[in-house]
Amino acid sequence: MKKTFVQSEFSEFDSVAELADEDKKLIGEARVSVKNAYAPYSDFHVGAAVLLENGIVVKGNNQENASYPLGLCAERVAIFAAGANYPGIKIKAMAITATSKDFLIDKPVAPCGACRQAIAEYEHRYGNSIRLILTGEKGKVLTTDGIRNFLPYMFNGDDLKKK
Ligand code: THU
Repeated sequence: MKKTFVQSEFSEFDSVAELADEDKKLIGEARVSVKNAYAPYSDFHVGAAVLLENGIVVKGNNQENASYPLGLCAERVAIFAAGANYPGIKIKAMAITATSKDFLIDKPVAPCGACRQAIAEYEHRYGNSIRLILTGEKGKVLTTDGIRNFLPYMFNGDDLKKK
């Protein structure tokens, strides 16, 4: 038996003002997108914006359902919309933010496990890491380059290939 240690790397910023322009702009798009979230059950409104390598931004937000498990997270709405409308165009980055009617979100919102797996699929599909930019309504911003930082030992299409 041997123990292995997996490292993740994140950059933590005190506020959006500290970010590079491209990241700031993408957060701006996620903040626009959050307004169209349909979240009457959780009142937790999430917005995501995906930047493609051709400069196009595809937005998504959470879409809930009275049959709760059918709802879909903002990240998957956005990344599936990118895949559906711009197949073959690499995804460079995704910004994620959220608002709530009940409380102030003062820390970065991280993608749920299912969304991590969906993001991993698009990294694998296009062969590049996706930059993730996470924010709340205010406070710190977290960035990281590649879903591996959130999902060590990930499962992907290579695991389905015969060796
Ligand atoms: N949600 C997202 O859209 N993204 C996340 O990363 C976390 C959770 C949504 C799902 C549900 O509509 C609401 O937030 C509460 O979980």
